Amino acid sequence: MPERLRKLVYLSHATIEDDVHTLTPTIEEILATSRRNNARAEITGALMFNHGYFAQVLEGTQRALEATFERIQMDERHNRVAILAYDEVSHRVFESWSMGWVGDVETESANAFATLSEKADQQTREIAGERIYALLHRRLREGGM
Ligand SMILES: Cc1cc2nc3c(=O)[nH]c(=O)nc-3n(C[C@H](O)[C@H](O)[C@H](O)COP(=O)(O)O)c2cc1C
Repeated sequence: MPERLRKLVYLSHATIEDDVHTLTPTIEEILATSRRNNARAEITGALMFNHGYFAQVLEGTQRALEATFERIQMDERHNRVAILAYDEVSHRVFESWSMGWVGDVETESANAFATLSEKADQQTREIAGERIYALLHRRLREGGM
């Protein structure tokens, strides 16, 4: 029997300076590393950056996700990593992207995520996790990279 698939959704605060000269090369580097490693580990997903924070969806087996997420969590380019979802899924929705890039999202959605405090209760986190998952997928289908 094949190993079961999971998805992980998190939100984190970027520690890198929020100006294009720092941001662009840093994000390009993160994406290049992610795509190389994720293709090897059979991880798919998407990354968003907005108003100083990241949101990321990762899909893969538990083993692959945990190894990858352990590295991500230790990365000093962000902190205050808050897991919003970590559950079993029947299939991948980001199957075409080893790490899809979603730049800015609509201000309304961005504000909703930005105000999600670390003290948010479980239900609020779950709702935010599902919204991010759906939003990133929609944005990539509409023409992400
Ligand atoms: C917001 C963010 C998202 C990242 N996403 C991934 C990822 O999906 N896969 C990955 O391998 N590394 C990711 N990284 C990079 C890892 O933290 C780490 O630098 C990298 O996996 C090290 O890989 P290397 O040993 O091949 O250089 C991410 C880093 C940040 C800051």
